[in-house]
Amino acid sequence: MIRLATIGTSTITEKFADAVAQTPGIGIDVVYSRDVARGRAFADRVGIDGVSTDLDALLASGDVDAVYVGSPNGAHAAQAAAAIAAGVHVFLEKPATPTAAEFARLVDDARQRAAVVFEGMRNVYDPGMARVRDLLPALGRVRLVSFGQSQRSARYDLVLAGETPNIFDPALAGGALFDLGVYPLSAAIDLFGAPTSVVGATATIATGADGAGAAVLAYDDFVAQIAFSKIGASRRPNEIQGELGTMEIDEITAPRRIRLDLFSGVSEEIEIDGPENNMRFEVARFAALVRGDADAAPDQQRSLDVLRAVEAIRVAAGASAVGSDDGAR
Ligand SMILES: NC(=O)c1ccc[n+]([C@@H]2O[C@H](COP(=O)([O-])OP(=O)(O)OC[C@H]3O[C@@H](n4cnc5c(N)ncnc54)[C@H](OP(=O)(O)O)[C@@H]3O)[C@@H](O)[C@H]2O)c1
Repeated sequence: MIRLATIGTSTITEKFADAVAQTPGIGIDVVYSRDVARGRAFADRVGIDGVSTDLDALLASGDVDAVYVGSPNGAHAAQAAAAIAAGVHVFLEKPATPTAAEFARLVDDARQRAAVVFEGMRNVYDPGMARVRDLLPALGRVRLVSFGQSQRSARYDLVLAGETPNIFDPALAGGALFDLGVYPLSAAIDLFGAPTSVVGATATIATGADGAGAAVLAYDDFVAQIAFSKIGASRRPNEIQGELGTMEIDEITAPRRIRLDLFSGVSEEIEIDGPENNMRFEVARFAALVRGDADAAPDQQRSLDVLRAVEAIRVAAGASAVGSDDGAR
């Protein structure tokens, strides 16, 4: 049984706990919070006994095999590094770290400690994405891809009221690109590999973070456009255009309806019967990696390629530096 500790007591950690409860061979033993009352309340909500407010002691205790990092993005790298130094496996919420250099260092350190470091990018482990991949050959040569994730955040109202909630705080690597842009970027890079070049631009909000943006990923013989926003919304489907037809995908975070329209005249609608909480697939993958049933290198390479694309967009957009090794590869 893989014994987990969680970091962070927000809704996403609750969702993670629900996914873990549905996955054999892995369970949460301890909840870490910076505040004991908050930790206790969270642990009671998800039915766990152990609570800790001392992360270093918890990691050194030998009582946990792995840690889930569900803190704000800007806290991920230091918490993951502490876990790896203690020989504890790490499941990082997306985006793994603000910069590619930070993640590359974690990967190197983890290799030396025989630990796994893994980014929980839930859409790439969703069976809906596997279905998209299986259907790709029907499109012939892919020429134009258009993926996006735009979802207005209620916390933008706090920004409009003059506040800086974590999710829009540049000091914690907040903003639309880090929060939502990484989903369409990960989908594109998972399906098609690392692009040859990336350009992008973002719209800055009052906190200094990006509220929305767009990017173009260039490949040898096709182009992918990526859109993301936390201050507006879109119902536009995602699209892959090939020389033989077009595929439409409803949600890039959890594909559930795919439509194929081929120039031969064939049209097909495919429904994917997926669970409401698709984090269970990434949890299952992490458990397999920790058990040594699969190699983490391809997952880590995809995360690195996505973080490099994120950095290229931020550089093109003139965003201020984040992380400990800004711009480094
Ligand atoms: N996979 C998904 O669908 C999904 C959805 C939402 C978010 N996320 C990811 O989950 C992570 C957390 O996002 P969130 O919006 O839930 O963040 P958040 O509410 O700002 O913070 C999450 C938790 O981290 C702790 N925390 C808060 N501020 C902190 C700080 N300055 N330094 C260290 N710890 C701090 C808090 O726990 P304590 O106070 O109890 O310590 C809090 O409950 C992010 O990486 C985000 O991208 C993923």
